Amino acid sequence: MSNNLEETGSKKAGEENPSWRCTVCGFVFFGKKPPKGCPRCHSPSREFRTVLTHRSLVYDGKPADVLLINGSTHRAGNTGFLVDCAEELLRETGVLYQRYNLAEYSIDPCWCCYSIRDESCTYPCRNKEDDMPAFHQMIAASKAVIIASPINWNTMAVRLKIFLDRMTCMENLYHLGKPGLTEGKIAGILICGHEDGAIKTALDIFFVLQQMGFILAPFGIGFRTHGSEYNSSTDADFFRTDNLIAQQIQGVVHNVIEMMRLDPESALRGKLIPVGE
Ligand SMILES: Cc1cc2nc3c(=O)[nH]c(=O)nc-3n(C[C@H](O)[C@H](O)[C@H](O)COP(=O)(O)O)c2cc1C
Repeated sequence: MSNNLEETGSKKAGEENPSWRCTVCGFVFFGKKPPKGCPRCHSPSREFRTVLTHRSLVYDGKPADVLLINGSTHRAGNTGFLVDCAEELLRETGVLYQRYNLAEYSIDPCWCCYSIRDESCTYPCRNKEDDMPAFHQMIAASKAVIIASPINWNTMAVRLKIFLDRMTCMENLYHLGKPGLTEGKIAGILICGHEDGAIKTALDIFFVLQQMGFILAPFGIGFRTHGSEYNSSTDADFFRTDNLIAQQIQGVVHNVIEMMRLDPESALRGKLIPVGE
């Protein structure tokens, strides 16, 4: 996050008011509570986290069966709501899971070492300065991922694109003749948008995952858009009261868990022939 952030709120000398940072735009506010909304990007107060909240991500070695990834710029927006619903279902089922909102983590764009030559793209990743190495370890230790994204110009949110780009070092192991770390893992995909482009967005995500050896759960894509005839300010209420998206999330989470319990990762280990360009 840049150092030249705008700051506001009352910060008196010696006063220990916590500072709150908007996870969308980085605006910093001093006060007992976060501001009602961000004056810089207009995000609601739920996008604020205390500045102390962010630490470098370290993988503690505890396996989570399912990694639940919110790829949106908004940690608690419409995609965040879909992820809240998925999280509740995972909790009820008793599955070990971890939820991550990518907006709360520091993930640099891929250095694209693979574009220099195969051998330049190593695992662990050459960039050890941000939170992605911990995500690599967690992905390798998990059995399934459920990835959620808003539609941004008919494709996935940019934070998620960066996240998937950064998984190249896991996929590149195939080019180096080494065993992969993702083959046979299960994927589920959740998409929300205002008007159109959900299927393309889901398939864009799926295409990357399948080239890494992930298996899409049957009925593993859930999506919903509101409608271009409505103002996007009404989308939040729509998603929070819409029965169809609730059913879709329930189905995707259920199907991911059922597929995961078959443990295709173990059954297929060492038996697949990686295919890619
Ligand atoms: C840059 C940008 C591009 C968007 N493009 C699309 C689009 O192509 N199709 C669509 O249905 N919605 C589009 N939307 C609307 C978002 O998908 C929608 O508002 C979504 O619910 C936002 O989720 P969030 O609260 O997690 O950010 C776009 C929004 C933004 C900011």
